[in-house]
Amino acid sequence: MIITIDGYAGSGKSSAARGLADALGFELLNTGAMYRAAGLALQDAGVNIYADPPDLARIAELVADYTFDMAGGKTMLNGVDYTERLTSPGAGAAASKVGTFPPVRERLKAEQRRIAAGRNMICEGRDQGTAVFPDAAVKFFFTASVEVRAKRRYDQLVKDRADADLAKIAEQIALRDHQDETRPIDPLKKADDAEPIDTSNDPLDVTLERMRKVVGECRG
Ligand code: DC
Repeated sequence: MIITIDGYAGSGKSSAARGLADALGFELLNTGAMYRAAGLALQDAGVNIYADPPDLARIAELVADYTFDMAGGKTMLNGVDYTERLTSPGAGAAASKVGTFPPVRERLKAEQRRIAAGRNMICEGRDQGTAVFPDAAVKFFFTASVEVRAKRRYDQLVKDRADADLAKIAEQIALRDHQDETRPIDPLKKADDAEPIDTSNDPLDVTLERMRKVVGECRG
């Protein structure tokens, strides 16, 4: 059984995905991590992913061989462990960029379907309920206001960095939203049959309770 969770950056979908996976005894597939690793791997191979236009022939050639192993919360791409490198701001920007390249999306979608085949899995990302698993048993779509998402990110950052700037973070979040919503292939959007979840005002336990109820109703 596949459950999809799509939504905006910082909307709380990762924490909810983890909580729901634990509650149901499902595995978790973090597809953002796959885009992050692909962005880093292409750059490691010497590709300028920000070139205009990008060298799509070379990118297609490289990603054709990409195989992922996402077991145990790690992100392994062709046997190389990218897990530690995935949280840098550069990795997020690279993921958003390579997510606009058709050969990257095609390869990663195929890998996501291969990894999830025959499993009880919660698949989290931007296009899981719309493009990758349109027949998923249950779909959720997460939103939260830009202000709330910027404040969450700010609170995370001030722990390590005194120069965190709330207005700048809000600006970056709005830009990432725009990129994800307007890319021509598989843009971020709610599937018609997805349950909308707005986490602006709800703590995680309230969100999780709601999700468990929706899953319970679908399972009958
Ligand atoms: O969930 P995240 O912040 O790790 O995702 C980083 C970027 O990867 C996101 O801005 C767009 C891209 N992405 C995607 O295009 N499709 C997905 N299923 C997951 C992520």
